[in-house]
Amino acid sequence: MRISVIGCGYLGAVHAACMAELGHDVVGIDVDAAKIAELAAGRSPFFEPGLDELLGAKDGRLRFSTDISEIEQARVHFIAVGTPQVAGGHAADLRYVDAAVTALLPHIGPGHLVVGKSTVPVGTAARLAELVEPTGAQLVWNPEFLREGFAVSDTLSPDRLVYGVRPGDDRATEVLDLVYARPLESGTPRIVTDYATAELVKVSANAFLATKISFINAMAEIAEVTGADITTLADAIGFDARIGRRFLNAGVGFGGGCLPKDIRAFQARAAELGVGQALDFLDDVDQINLRRRQRVVDLLEQHFEGLAGRTVAVLGLAFKPDSDDVRDSPALDIAQRVAALGATVQATDPEAIETARRSQPQLDYRATVDEAVAGADAIVVLTEWRQFRELDPAVVAERTSARLVIDGRNCLDPGAWRQAGFTYVGLGRP
Ligand code: UDX
Repeated sequence: MRISVIGCGYLGAVHAACMAELGHDVVGIDVDAAKIAELAAGRSPFFEPGLDELLGAKDGRLRFSTDISEIEQARVHFIAVGTPQVAGGHAADLRYVDAAVTALLPHIGPGHLVVGKSTVPVGTAARLAELVEPTGAQLVWNPEFLREGFAVSDTLSPDRLVYGVRPGDDRATEVLDLVYARPLESGTPRIVTDYATAELVKVSANAFLATKISFINAMAEIAEVTGADITTLADAIGFDARIGRRFLNAGVGFGGGCLPKDIRAFQARAAELGVGQALDFLDDVDQINLRRRQRVVDLLEQHFEGLAGRTVAVLGLAFKPDSDDVRDSPALDIAQRVAALGATVQATDPEAIETARRSQPQLDYRATVDEAVAGADAIVVLTEWRQFRELDPAVVAERTSARLVIDGRNCLDPGAWRQAGFTYVGLGRP
């Protein structure tokens, strides 16, 4: 099939590459010429495992351009532009989605399918359909559930496909079934529903995941004052199949380009719809999450009775491992709070130093763990990269004068670090 992808940021670049991998003829469009040049040269503008390989030779089936008229050859047009928070508020800013659809209109007609992938407030698809349908084209909402670090495999083998269509629009479903023929043949479940349900599936899934993380972090707060161990507790409740162990890792909480902004935008939309109370609990989810960041800062301050003049080695800056993304990263936020209290922060990360430096240039970035821990008073692990989980504490002890390690992701072996002479402090662990 001939496909265009409008917006080549994180979602769009991955989607375009994966659609070509599925055998389609794809053109990716973006207004950012530098980004398009990188992608056209076969290089990913951000770190994502497996993406560079996919951007390579596709027998000319994957192209990138800044010229929107290049979509005319295609019949299926994915909208994959960002929906950030509006300046000074929590609602989603739809200007890029609106601009993308408006730019498409002169180039589409009968037989074309516009497929929304961006995360949008419920009601957006119905509004956009009013713009698209007069051209003779159809609109379908097909939310994306990919996780950073697994974006390629999540797109090639999604755990479900959701199509939000106009009631009775069988053609939209048939066309998307051809686009996703390969995952469907492998048994991926597909749910065909209305626009509003499809839009809500996405934001409610993210709200649930955020709630699950804040639930376990709330239990960690209780564990901290009772001497209980949150990791054992999570294992034990996780064996209940109704609860499940995944997304019950207590620590410095969730960040990234999706969960924090999506729960806030969902609340803002509910308030607009007159049902704000239904999502009041997400305020607590957000607050519990932010309290965990301050907990690490408090632990450091209490230990040293003030941080002025101290040196803190921060291991991890990305909001999660296998990513160079520092958007709303708990790690970078904590590093910045510690620095604001007068400490020197020697920070390292396997992939995110450059992205972190752009938003927090004042930190002292170090290329390696050895350089980060040299001369430090404390070590704080804030992103659970494999490289950090597998550190040998006996070797680290030789490279540093620090004797305190705070494990903000509960990813280290407390016994091994204590044995190597460190005072080990986890979050929600005795
Ligand atoms: C998320 C959703 O998982 C995905 O379905 C959606 O499409 C986009 O948002 P992503 O932002 O890539 O994906 O990251 P995810 O793996 O969900 O992690 C989000 C944050 O939660 C990270 O900061 C992570 O460290 C944190 N987290 C996750 C925890 O603190 N504890 C956990 O148990 C799991």
